[in-house]
Amino acid sequence: MISIFPKSILIFLTLLFFSAKATYYEWEKQVELIPTDGNEFYYFGFSSYLAKNYCIIGAYKATINNISDQGKAYIYQNNGTNWNYLQEISPQNSNVSEFFASCVAINNDFAFVGASQATVNNNTFQGKVYVFKNNGSYWNQSQNLIASDGKSNDNFGLSIAVYNDVLIVGSPQSTVGNNSEQGKVYVFKNNGTYWNELQILIASDGNPNDNFGASVAIYNDVLIVGSPQAAVGNNSEQGKVYVFKNNGTYWNQQQILVSSDGQQDDTFGTSVGIEKNYSIIGAFGATVDENFAQGKAYIFQNNGTYWNQQQILIASDGESSDNFGVSSAISNGVVIIGAYNAAVGKYMSQGKAYIFQSDGIYWNQLQIISPNDTLYGELFGTSVSISENYIVVGAPDASLGNTLYVGKAYIFQGFPEPNQVNIENCTSLYSSFECYWDQIGDLSTISYQINYHYYEENWIDINSPSLNGSILYEIFDSLNYPNIIGNVEYSIQIRACNISTNFCGAASLPWNLTTRIDSVKDLQLNPNQYYINISWSQPDVPVINLIPKLDHYVISYFNQSQTNLINNISVSNSSTSYQLNNLESLTLYSISIWACQTENCSGNEQGEIISQTTSTVFGPVTNFTCSTSNIYNLSCSWKPPTNSQLPNYYNFTIQSSQLNDYQNYSINSTILNTTLLYSNIDYTITIKGCNNETGCGIISTIELKTTQLNASNINSWETGIEQIKLNISSVEFAKGYQITLNEGNEWKNFSQINSSGNNIYGEINNIAGNIEYNVEVRACSETSCNSILSGKPSNNITMKARLGYVEEFNCVGIIEGFECNWNELNLASGLNGYSLSYYMSKECLANDTTYFEVDDDLEGGVEYSVSIQAVTTTDCFPDEYSGPITTIKVTTQKKTVSNSSKNKGGIIAASIIVPLFVIALVIGIVFYIKKRESKRRGYKELNLKNVKEPIFDDFLDSNDATENQKLV
Ligand SMILES: *[C@@H]1O[C@H](CO)[C@@H](O)[C@H](O)[C@H]1NC(C)=O
Ligand SMILES: *[C@@H]1O[C@H](CO)[C@@H](O)[C@H](O)[C@H]1NC(C)=O
Ligand SMILES: *[C@@H]1O[C@H](CO)[C@@H](O)[C@H](O)[C@H]1NC(C)=O
Ligand SMILES: *[C@@H]1O[C@H](CO)[C@@H](O)[C@H](O)[C@H]1NC(C)=O
Repeated sequence: MISIFPKSILIFLTLLFFSAKATYYEWEKQVELIPTDGNEFYYFGFSSYLAKNYCIIGAYKATINNISDQGKAYIYQNNGTNWNYLQEISPQNSNVSEFFASCVAINNDFAFVGASQATVNNNTFQGKVYVFKNNGSYWNQSQNLIASDGKSNDNFGLSIAVYNDVLIVGSPQSTVGNNSEQGKVYVFKNNGTYWNELQILIASDGNPNDNFGASVAIYNDVLIVGSPQAAVGNNSEQGKVYVFKNNGTYWNQQQILVSSDGQQDDTFGTSVGIEKNYSIIGAFGATVDENFAQGKAYIFQNNGTYWNQQQILIASDGESSDNFGVSSAISNGVVIIGAYNAAVGKYMSQGKAYIFQSDGIYWNQLQIISPNDTLYGELFGTSVSISENYIVVGAPDASLGNTLYVGKAYIFQGFPEPNQVNIENCTSLYSSFECYWDQIGDLSTISYQINYHYYEENWIDINSPSLNGSILYEIFDSLNYPNIIGNVEYSIQIRACNISTNFCGAASLPWNLTTRIDSVKDLQLNPNQYYINISWSQPDVPVINLIPKLDHYVISYFNQSQTNLINNISVSNSSTSYQLNNLESLTLYSISIWACQTENCSGNEQGEIISQTTSTVFGPVTNFTCSTSNIYNLSCSWKPPTNSQLPNYYNFTIQSSQLNDYQNYSINSTILNTTLLYSNIDYTITIKGCNNETGCGIISTIELKTTQLNASNINSWETGIEQIKLNISSVEFAKGYQITLNEGNEWKNFSQINSSGNNIYGEINNIAGNIEYNVEVRACSETSCNSILSGKPSNNITMKARLGYVEEFNCVGIIEGFECNWNELNLASGLNGYSLSYYMSKECLANDTTYFEVDDDLEGGVEYSVSIQAVTTTDCFPDEYSGPITTIKVTTQKKTVSNSSKNKGGIIAASIIVPLFVIALVIGIVFYIKKRESKRRGYKELNLKNVKEPIFDDFLDSNDATENQKLV
């Protein structure tokens, strides 16, 4: 790579361009000064002057004792934080209007107040300067300064400047020779007590109406005088500024300054200011582009001998007639320029002021200040003054409420940008780093921010730096900070910020460092009898892998009782586990691991060490056996492990994942008998030797399945009404039995029966009759059986139950007949129909029938027996699975005999009505009967009318007898 500039030149250029930092970051309005006794037409702020902690504001038209335009001045003092009103001053023994305070100046010892229209020795408007002396707490008038050669209308005191023991006073309307209003400047010198006129300055090339002395400024041995009405060549009122230099005693004109781009009516020199080797000169009538009287200001720089125009300052938002440059002041790299006629928004002539700041080469507009009042014509910027970090701006035409033109003055405070921080040192820790830097200023006003990044940038407050001249700050991983990751190159910058304004200074030059690699994560040690398994996961490495350096890991370990290193082992960077072999059993080891960024791995390349201690453990027990004597008894025994020491105790567990069962025993003996097992279950039984120092050792495991209970047999079974009864054989060790029915394809755990001696009886109740079931029985090792715990299945037998009773069978007698209702048979999936018998008849009814009626066929007024039975066959011939018979009695009604001859000769109307009623009744009954007619399935009518009992089937009778009998 070719470097064009040598490094030293680059550094020089860097210093040249960036070391001369702007002085202030922002100016903020601190206070508005208002005259305590202000009244209309005071024009407070027409003149103003700031010097260190004193500020003087003139109100040149203040009325005193009914004398208008006499004028007053007000002195304010800054006590460090506030500007407090101190006193007002006015001329003693004056009872005429004299425009006292049309110009003001102050320093620590004296206040100077120009009264430019004061009458002197009957010379009206000759002007005076009043001198007030500070006695420490009060300012007293000490002297009146009058021009030695003063005349009427001189306006002596219209401009004033002071520097140490030299005071200069402009008298711009003075006549020089025959040149009226050419202007003069008077130099006064203080002899310790009094100010004495030293010299009268006159322009070398003065002309009438030049107004030489309209503005004056002084710094050290240079004073400048504005002559704004002076013509330059053919340009009338272009303006000139005269530079005078002191030769030890006197001041001699050294140079005449004119603007490089001057034009007619510029009035260059309207205002002037000087400090060190810079001078500011306002030209408030200057046209900028097309904007007439927008105004300009000029910076002149002294090169050691002469003053040269350096830069033209123009308001960024200037408009016609703003009169930028009507006032100006300079201090310490900052200039302030008034533009008193500028509009602020819609408020015409409210006025603005512009702050420019030097970056060492150029003067840049930093800020525009203006009142935030809603007033027209305030003329903010009529006067300006600056001293250190305060600016005062007068707005003499500001009204207070309805009181017109009282005037205001605004004080603005400049907030400097904190200096650039210099980082002394930053050092890498693992997942953190620490930095030292030079403290900037007072921590009560300054805070710090840090920015560290490798791919993201943001500034973070440093909340609690310690205070020791230099500051240590360590950033740890925490919720509030982005994680610092090991093994990453960070660029660190620190800056100081002003706590009250939040203005931050320039960032320090970046300090680059690579953090050391983090510790491994998730370190786990799994000890065995003679070895230890180590596992871990990789340390955090950067997401954006700028310097991915994870070369290998080092595992270091030693026997703790001997405290000497056994070995350092190098492990590949892709490994995440390692086994330390050939260890002694029951011995404490300390194991450390760290990641290395390089092959040699020293110093900063060595990652953070993480260490753990563990002990090798007991070996497995020996001769471990387990057996079950019956399924409820487990016996295990073992011998101690082959270590030199015996375990203090054994940790024994029995668990079954099938039963979700876990039992743990801590025992001293080498035998364990327990009785908590179930049949047909897989158990895992473990044992390990333990002591309190090294914990438990290697596990020995036995897997064991307990015996399944033997099958129980179904010895016999009988059918019942919706019921099956079983007789089964008992099984050794069984605690319960379980019956399962296979309905379709699925075996259902239907019911459970308990043992009683060797014979076990069981019932399966509430099952559908005439349906084939496969029935199985199992013994169980618990009273509450389930399929896991049950024994082997029994023989599998197909069984059937009888159909049940016909429920809610009810018959009522009707004329020479009866009608019956019943509920459809529950669980009737094996039902084929109903057999209903009465007298000599037997009806075979379909299986969805629930109604039967016989009408007009039987003898009236006779009690009949009616029987019903659910049957399995379609021809109603009952078999062994048909239901039991239900019989009830019903009495038929007699037919009513009607003798029609008895009614002959009766009312004709009735004979007509009755037949109609009868016809309707007959139709209704027929319809009713048709609707409810039973579904007969073919039946035989025996037609034996004199027999009242129904015919019973012999087979059914015998079956009914066994209905509630227990199986034998
Ligand atoms: C400065 O003046 C203000 C207002 O008058 C007052 O509150 C403050 O205490 C003073 N500060 C000092 C340091 O005197
Ligand atoms: C000022 O004028 C008055 C009257 O014209 C005269 O009496 C007085 O002496 C004059 N004063 C001076 C100082 O000339
Ligand atoms: C200072 O000047 C005054 C008046 O001009 C004079 O009276 C005084 O003697 C002078 N003092 C010194 C120390 O020169
Ligand atoms: C200073 O200037 C004055 C007047 O301009 C002159 O008389 C005097 O000789 C000068 N002094 C020196 C030391 O040059």
